[in-house]
Amino acid sequence: MRIDVLFAPHGLELHKPRGLTVAVVDVLRASTTIAYAIDAGADRIIPVASIEAATTLAMKLGEEDVLLCGEREGKRIDGFHLGNSPQEYSQADISGKTLVLTTTNGTKAISMCEAVKEVVVASLVNVSAVVEYLLAAKNRIVLVCAGKFGRFSMEDALCAGMIVARLRDSRDNNLDLGDSAGAAEILYRANSIDPLALLRDCEHGQYLGSLGFEEDLQVCAKVDALSVVPVVRQGRIRRSESRM
Ligand code: MLT
Repeated sequence: MRIDVLFAPHGLELHKPRGLTVAVVDVLRASTTIAYAIDAGADRIIPVASIEAATTLAMKLGEEDVLLCGEREGKRIDGFHLGNSPQEYSQADISGKTLVLTTTNGTKAISMCEAVKEVVVASLVNVSAVVEYLLAAKNRIVLVCAGKFGRFSMEDALCAGMIVARLRDSRDNNLDLGDSAGAAEILYRANSIDPLALLRDCEHGQYLGSLGFEEDLQVCAKVDALSVVPVVRQGRIRRSESRM
């Protein structure tokens, strides 16, 4: 099983996307929010890249059971029902609802994986479930870090490294780690004791802290708090029918 990591969401075309399983990682906070929303019973999440696309799609779908969700600069978008704080999704009644979600980096990274056969959404809160899914897929894997404005972000690299480390610890003898996967694993093994400290210290964690989202950092750092695997099919994110 070949594993590569993209530390920012470009370069996927170099990996012949059609034959891949991709895990998109946006620890702060889109991937974590998606995991919480699916866990809370959202029927489907439709990730879109822009505010305009989100509002147009929501109007087309009609008001019933559709919620407009997302952030810009970390804050809820004016007129939207929900922002991008995972805690909102465990508290609001979203069961059976369609969420149209747009975030600055996370939903863009997901949208960029359109040509990929199989895409899942990964974060620290569902890392073991994602690893089980990837092992069962027995496919070439690319971990795509959403990053920040197209650049590297520490928290996504940490999560990618944790996934790589757990795949290695699974003792699957067919693992073939690319150098990028090896680099992510080294970063993770150096920080594995305290992910929360890293989330507080990284660029986007500092920014979210300054907006008053310290509790979100704690939620996003809770490794394996959930066992859901959000899967993207035909532009819709739903709970995976377990292959475990
Ligand atoms: C993003 O997609 O850029 C993030 O999830 C931003 C955030 O923390 O809300």
